[in-house]
Amino acid sequence: MIDLRAFSFLSTLPSREIEKLRKVCRYKKYASGTVIVKEKEDLSDLVMVVEGQVSVVKTYGDRKSTLFTLDPGDVYGEVEILNGTKCLTTLIGYQEFQVIFIPKEFFLRIIGLYPGFAKETRDLYSRRGPLLLEEGLSKSEFAKVVTFFNVKGGAGKSVISSNVAVMLAKYWKKKVVLLDMNLAFGDQAILLGLSPNKNIHNLTKVRPPLKLSSIEEQLTRHSSGLKVLLPPPLPELSESIRLEFIENIIDILKSHYDFIIIDTHNQLSPLELKLLDCSDLIMLIMTMELTFIKNTKVLLDLLQRLKIPREKVKVVLNRAFKSMGLEPSKVEKSLRYAISHFIPSEGNIVVPSVNKGTPFVLAKGSDGTAILMAIKKLCARLTGEEIEKGTWNMFSLLKEVFGL
Ligand SMILES: Nc1ncnc2c1ncn2[C@@H]1O[C@H](COP(=O)(O)OP(=O)(O)OP(=O)(O)O)[C@@H](O)[C@H]1O
Ligand SMILES: [Mg+2]
Repeated sequence: MIDLRAFSFLSTLPSREIEKLRKVCRYKKYASGTVIVKEKEDLSDLVMVVEGQVSVVKTYGDRKSTLFTLDPGDVYGEVEILNGTKCLTTLIGYQEFQVIFIPKEFFLRIIGLYPGFAKETRDLYSRRGPLLLEEGLSKSEFAKVVTFFNVKGGAGKSVISSNVAVMLAKYWKKKVVLLDMNLAFGDQAILLGLSPNKNIHNLTKVRPPLKLSSIEEQLTRHSSGLKVLLPPPLPELSESIRLEFIENIIDILKSHYDFIIIDTHNQLSPLELKLLDCSDLIMLIMTMELTFIKNTKVLLDLLQRLKIPREKVKVVLNRAFKSMGLEPSKVEKSLRYAISHFIPSEGNIVVPSVNKGTPFVLAKGSDGTAILMAIKKLCARLTGEEIEKGTWNMFSLLKEVFGL
C-alpha cells in the first residue's frame, strides 16, 4: 500500500483527510511511453506521480517542447484546475510508471480547508502558471541551462557533465556550450583533452560591453562540436572574475545555444548560488554513501528554503552498483526526493577515458554498455526527444541489472 503521507505535497494534511483521499483517488500503473493526459482535453483530476517519471510536453505551432519532468511526489494539474481550462500540456510517462488521480472536487475542497495546503498549491501555481499559460515559444527558444552540482568532491560532476555535453553535441546535434565554473581547479581541459589557451580570464581583458563574438573567440572547440569555456590558467586569477561578469556571459550565450552545461566546484559560495539561480535544471550528483546522502539532504532542504522550484532539481545517483548496502528506495524516502537518474559504476570505462582525455561516450569500447545507455537516457530527458524505439525498455533493464 502506498504511504500517501510520505509525499511532501500532502504532508500538511491531517490523517483523516489522507484517509478520505485514499478512498476517493484512483491508482494506475502504465507501460513506458503511455500518454495519460492529452493537451486540450478535459482534466478532471490532479495527477500525482508515485513511481517512474512523467514528461510535461507543450505544443507551440508545429514544435513540441518538454517543459519539465515530474518525479515521484510531484503533482500536475493545479494550473488547469484553478483556471478552469482544458489541459495545457500532454503528460507522457517513461519506464513503468504509476500515478494517483486526485479528483478535482477533493483537491478544491482541501485548498479551502487547509491554509498550509493552500499555500503549497499557490507556490506551485505561481512557479508554473506563467510557463504553462505562455502561448509563444519565448522561454523554450533560449538555451536550457543545466548545472551539475554537489558540495562534496568526487561525485562525478565533471565526468558526467562533460560526457552529457559531448553526447548532446555529437549525437543529438545540439548547439552546446560547457562552462567550467570550477574556476580555480577545473578539470574540463584534462577530461576533454583541450589546450587551456583560450579561457575566461582572457575574456575579462576585453573592453566592455561584452559581445557574443568576444565570448566565441575564447571558447575552445572540441572535436564533437561542443564548445567549452575553460577556467583561468592559474588558480589565483579566478578571484578577478566577478559574478556579474559570469551572469552576463550566460545571458549572452543563452540566446545562441540549445544547452549551457555547467560544471561547478564542490562548495556553496555566492558563485554557486548564482549559478543555481540561473539554471533551468540542477542535477544534484551523489553516490550511495551516507556522507553524500547527508550532504545531499542538507542541500535539498537549503534549495527549498531558497525557494528554488522542486521540479528544477533532479537527484542523480552516480557510481551505482548492485550491492551498495543501502536501499535506493529508503534513500529516496529520507531525501523526500526521487532519484531521477542512475549512472552505473564502470571504473574500467571511466578511468581510462579520464586518463586519455577522451569522454567515454566517444570510446568504441563503451558501445552498448550500461553507463553509455544511462548517459543517453539522461540526454534524452534533457532534450525531451525520445531515443530509438525500444531503447527505453533497455534502460528500465538497467534497474534490474544493477538491482536498483
Ligand atoms: N560512474 C562512474 N564509474 C566509475 N568511476 C567514476 C564514475 N563517475 C566518476 N568516477 C570516478 O570518480 C572520479 C571523480 O569524478 P569527478 O572528477 O567527475 O568528480 P567531481 O564531482 O567533479 O569532483 P570535484 O568536486 O572534486 O571536482 C573520476 O575521475 C572517475 O575516476
Ligand atoms: Mg570536478
